[in-house]
Amino acid sequence: MARIIAGVTSSHVPAIGAAIDNRKTGEPYWQRVFSGFEKSKEWMEKTKPDVVIAVYNDHASAFSVELIPTFALGCAAEFPPADEGWGPRPVPVVKGHPALASHIAQSVILDEFDLTIVNRMEVDHGLTVPLNLMFGSPKEWPCPVIPLAVNVVMYPPPTGHRCYMLGRAIRKAVASYPEDLRVVIMGTGGMSHQISGPRAGLINSKFDKAFLDGLTRDPRKLARIPHVEYMREAGAEGIEMVMWLIMRGALDDKVKEVYRFYTVPASNTAVGHIILENVQRTTKSRRPASARGSAPKGRRAAAASPTLPSPASGGGKGGGLIVRSKR
Ligand code: DHB
Ligand code: FE
Repeated sequence: MARIIAGVTSSHVPAIGAAIDNRKTGEPYWQRVFSGFEKSKEWMEKTKPDVVIAVYNDHASAFSVELIPTFALGCAAEFPPADEGWGPRPVPVVKGHPALASHIAQSVILDEFDLTIVNRMEVDHGLTVPLNLMFGSPKEWPCPVIPLAVNVVMYPPPTGHRCYMLGRAIRKAVASYPEDLRVVIMGTGGMSHQISGPRAGLINSKFDKAFLDGLTRDPRKLARIPHVEYMREAGAEGIEMVMWLIMRGALDDKVKEVYRFYTVPASNTAVGHIILENVQRTTKSRRPASARGSAPKGRRAAAASPTLPSPASGGGKGGGLIVRSKR
């Protein structure tokens, strides 16, 4: 039986991809951002999922204003890179998992979520930047990735509640897949940012940090946040955070937060990143039952974990609304 063992959130800032592709990750500005993902790459390397489901949004690379699916599930065997602006990034082709993807499509559609099935699709930085942050820059991505594209670009995006419930349906779908697969689900985009207009440069660390807390402890409360609140508090592009609720809905109610990182800014965006494990999760090198459940309790378990300490630089700029000047 397949199982979702953990969920990860990560930004998809295009400039992060440009920093990787142009070998600028060692520059102090970028070092601050990438240092927050060192432990995450170790975690991913140790966790070795059989499949990743990546909830992301397309930036007019695969879909334009001519076609705007609310939820589009990639069921193809391969997803070549593409991108706006500078063109395709020099990253490996994303290999899918058509059998599991088709099973998820069948299950969630019969559960009354009207997904669009996509059998040919290119994927942009919305997907490939989070993959780089979690896997580094390998020659081939180490496991199949099922893309789930969500419309958070054109009004109306789905509600947070709809996203959370879709996550629930995905969880059920994965659990009814007969093969014994360990699945990690990623929710990407975010956190607070506004790219254009008079409020361009808006970052709200207070909102972001409360959202991270809620993601671990009370996601149902986050699922009730209306669009207008995302717009007001987290900026126009802050709505990307509804994608994180698909990830969270796919996890158990009770999760262990094993890692968190927050820094401001990366390009125009607050970078927030969290790793949540289902408490019942097992790793490939199964830990004895006596070792399970002995992890430190409390919301910042990461801080007390010997394997995944929070990076010293992960603090961000304190709370409150920061409106930076437009560059
Ligand atoms: C930026 C962030 C995004 O999420 C995006 O889609 C485009 C640009 C930025 O920070 O520059
Ligand atoms: Fe974005």
